[in-house]
Amino acid sequence: MDVINRNFKEESDMVKPLKLGIIGAGNISKSHLEAARRTGAAVPVAICDPLLDRANQRQNEYGIQEVYADYHDMLAKSDIEAVVVCPPNHLHHVVTIDALRAGKHVLCEKPMSFRADWAQSMVDEAKKSGKILQVGMVSRYQPTVQWLRRQVAEGSLGWVYFARAQYVRRSGIPGWGSWFTRKDMAGGGPLIDIGVHRLDLAWYLMGCPKPVSVFGVTFAALGPSKQGLGTWGTPEWDGYYDVEDFSAALIKFADGSAISLEAVWAGYTDPSSALHLIGNKQGAQLIDDKVKIMTQVDKHDMDTMVSMPKNSLESGFSGQMMAFRNAVRGEAPCPAPGEQGLEVTKMLAGIYESAQKGASVAL
Ligand SMILES: NC(=O)c1ccc[n+]([C@@H]2O[C@H](COP(=O)([O-])OP(=O)(O)OC[C@H]3O[C@@H](n4cnc5c(N)ncnc54)[C@H](O)[C@@H]3O)[C@@H](O)[C@H]2O)c1
Repeated sequence: MDVINRNFKEESDMVKPLKLGIIGAGNISKSHLEAARRTGAAVPVAICDPLLDRANQRQNEYGIQEVYADYHDMLAKSDIEAVVVCPPNHLHHVVTIDALRAGKHVLCEKPMSFRADWAQSMVDEAKKSGKILQVGMVSRYQPTVQWLRRQVAEGSLGWVYFARAQYVRRSGIPGWGSWFTRKDMAGGGPLIDIGVHRLDLAWYLMGCPKPVSVFGVTFAALGPSKQGLGTWGTPEWDGYYDVEDFSAALIKFADGSAISLEAVWAGYTDPSSALHLIGNKQGAQLIDDKVKIMTQVDKHDMDTMVSMPKNSLESGFSGQMMAFRNAVRGEAPCPAPGEQGLEVTKMLAGIYESAQKGASVAL
């Protein structure tokens, strides 16, 4: 083989897209399919959904070859090497475990699970299978987040002893009455749906310290009477609502640091996606595509705004898909491994347990 052909071969191996299957053809499948198309990191070969109309619609939109109603058939028959798991939350663990057992790498949507024992079984199966289990913590891939993570790791903020993390909507209850608002299928309300993103982000930016205890409170002030509704998901008016609409928690870590978290679908308050890191050298705040760094110079407060390439839903999902491909190909470590998803699951489950008991819970 001459040099040019060899280089071409090496390059084509390096960029070889994943042969991908999608499990669950609902709303979020579109974000993954768009990311595959934008980045070329994966080629969607198969899709499945018990609601075949949905799978057929995605097939037409993205030129997917194979459509299945049952994911077991897809795992058994299709030549895919990896899957994105995006059915409702209560199925994440069983579908992930089946996919790993079938020899597929898995990118599992958030929340990884809402039960720590289920999340643990996913991690165990991934270890046994030797396949990648990546958790869909899509916020990690934003340029601001990657930059700030490096600042923290290099010590510019000093010891980050506190983070304030909020994901607060004024009126944003998704799909009233559908699986989103049913405890048995979703596992909970805003804490498990959107709080998971903010908690994971704060924890990741702090360097993933070991959680030791949580204290949480939850409320269902508006959701049960169909107030505070948002636009995501499809309401099912003959369904029901038995999850919280407002949650708050304090999580303590083994190194003495803590995160204060608010996750709210609906409440009479301003929306917020604030994320503050407070270190003993500097503080930092994520504001859309900027990071504000706060410190003191000559006893004067000084704030510096650092601008980054624009954050977007697209950049998050693209970064995630490329990272998944790179991890599967062995080119880079998995940036959101199942083990970290398990720790986040323990924190979330602990917050619900604490809210129910009215006391803090050791993790
Ligand atoms: N990363 C994010 O920011 C983000 C945003 C929205 C949703 N999500 C997550 O994605 C998942 C799906 O959310 P969605 O908004 O797409 O919901 P959705 O209700 O629109 O879609 C879920 C789909 O899964 C299908 N399904 C049910 N049982 C299945 C099975 N056994 N096999 C295959 N498919 C099955 C349903 O028929 C439905 O089409 C949830 O876990 C949710 O938390 C993540």
